[in-house]
Amino acid sequence: MKKILLSGVKPTGRVHLGNYFGAMKQFLDLQDKFESYIFIADYHAMTTVQNREELSQGIIDVALDYLAIGLDPKKVCLFKQSDIPEVHELTWIFNCITTVPYLMRAHAFKDAEAKNKEINVGIFDYPILMASDILMQDADVVPVGQDQKQHVEYARDTAQKFNRIFGKGEDVFKMPEPFILKEVETIPGTDGKKMSKSNGNVIPLFATSEEIKKAVMSIPTDSKGVDEPKNPSESLIFAIHKLLLEGPKLADLRTKYEKGGLGYKQAKELLIADLEAFIAPLRAKRDALARDLSAVKEILKKGGEKARSRASAKMNVVREKVGVEVK
Ligand code: ADP
Ligand code: TRP
Repeated sequence: MKKILLSGVKPTGRVHLGNYFGAMKQFLDLQDKFESYIFIADYHAMTTVQNREELSQGIIDVALDYLAIGLDPKKVCLFKQSDIPEVHELTWIFNCITTVPYLMRAHAFKDAEAKNKEINVGIFDYPILMASDILMQDADVVPVGQDQKQHVEYARDTAQKFNRIFGKGEDVFKMPEPFILKEVETIPGTDGKKMSKSNGNVIPLFATSEEIKKAVMSIPTDSKGVDEPKNPSESLIFAIHKLLLEGPKLADLRTKYEKGGLGYKQAKELLIADLEAFIAPLRAKRDALARDLSAVKEILKKGGEKARSRASAKMNVVREKVGVEVK
């Protein structure tokens, strides 16, 4: 029996290298090893996206992204969060056993508060909806970027609390583990801060050639001359470049930096060439998939049916445990 993997991405704009190397690539690398459930977190996106066209386009975009990077719908159950209404029922039950101060300690909430943002109830309750996504499908592992680690811990706490209050000695919910790759904890953006849609410093995963050039050219550098040796671990160009290379090619680039003779202009040109070689085939595959959207929608529909039937079975147990199922 394979263990269960679950993860999701919000449809909130174009995916970027941070999303890919931080999270999505793991979905791909693990699709044979685990029974995988990968979804589009459309109701999570609604905490910020409140525009019909934007949300529905975003959903199709993430589905195309998943398929274009190589997720195989024969191996992976791909679905939309909104096709599983049971998660909201479970969220309510979890809400009732969650305290307000506990949710006030969530990083995302504290950040929003620190920035004096207007915080809707959805943002406040975000970790509990995410706990429901995870626990509903009995996930063993949840591959995410470092910034989502706390959310997986909230899911673990919630599972434990439910089991304690309602389990009567039985573990109704499994304890999920976050799966975070050490070497790619946080991918930097073109300004050195965390690559993020909200920081405006991204290199889109399906960038056009022009976008690749523009993004790379905007990376800041220090004033070292061409001949001066450079420490690769201090270079933002290298930090992004190393995502694309391994083995001797990576060692070779490292040496070029250390030896001197590699100017920043040339280092950027090398990065542009490697980004183009990496992205061009992905872009072509995505364009091809986009020509048959009905096939994409059918994949989501089938995935939704499978995930929902599991959710429905799980909720029968949960309803019985909490006492609303009157026999
Ligand atoms: P963004 O910050 O651009 O809005 P999301 O919050 O939608 O990205 O993140 C989707 C997934 O990608 C999450 O699992 C998140 O941890 C991961 N991720 C996002 N940005 C990065 C990054 N810079 N480095 C590593 N992982 C990231
Ligand atoms: N919060 C995640 C993000 O911002 C998206 C998400 C929603 C998710 N539900 C999930 C990720 C369940 C993993 C498991 O990226």
